Amino acid sequence: MSDRSSTVTPRHFQYIASHARPEDAFLKQLKQAAQDAGIPPIWVAPEQASLIHILLKSAKAKEVVEVGTLAGYSAIVMARALASGGRVRTIEVNALRADFAEAWVAKSDVADRVKVYRGKGRDVLPLLETDSADAAFLDADKANYPFYLEASLRIVRSGGLIMVDNAFAFGELFDEAPQDPETDAVKSFNEIMAAEGRLQSVIVPLGDGLWVGVKA
Ligand code: DHB
Ligand code: MG
Repeated sequence: MSDRSSTVTPRHFQYIASHARPEDAFLKQLKQAAQDAGIPPIWVAPEQASLIHILLKSAKAKEVVEVGTLAGYSAIVMARALASGGRVRTIEVNALRADFAEAWVAKSDVADRVKVYRGKGRDVLPLLETDSADAAFLDADKANYPFYLEASLRIVRSGGLIMVDNAFAFGELFDEAPQDPETDAVKSFNEIMAAEGRLQSVIVPLGDGLWVGVKA
């Protein structure tokens, strides 16, 4: 090992992915149906889902707030990890995606644990009560991440979790000429997270990079 601080290579990520718990048949069907409905396949990777599940379970979380429902994949994954009586409040601005997620949540084993809020994160988050959540998961439009973070720091209780997807900017973090207009927003958000004194946080290199933070 000498002074190498990491031995991780792309091969290790393949290895991690191939040793993560595979998603069940229901989530596989959800993904296929979402693609058939024209929803982009940008849900969290199974190894990210596994980590999120472990974190929520260890924290004995009951209340989770999500920004960016997409197809409902992560909301269902998170709801399955909650202590009894738990609930995921998930916010989606796109009506087709909200309809899809609601339909699949209704068919899932956690139908009574997920509520889809329709609207912009900027409009819905201010309606949620202070200290009303044990965890937040941000996975939506990147330009608004600083707003979502500020709102999450209010809504999540002290000692709660704040997780944020796409720290690696869709793989474009180090690109000289990024194709995705959101890459710059991710980069500046990463600096905000790194400097945020109210959180103890780290980027976990699973999927497209998952920020995991605990609120002081
Ligand atoms: C993309 C991936 C994501 O996880 C996301 O939240 C948004 C966009 C993408 O690959 O474009
Ligand atoms: Mg994402």
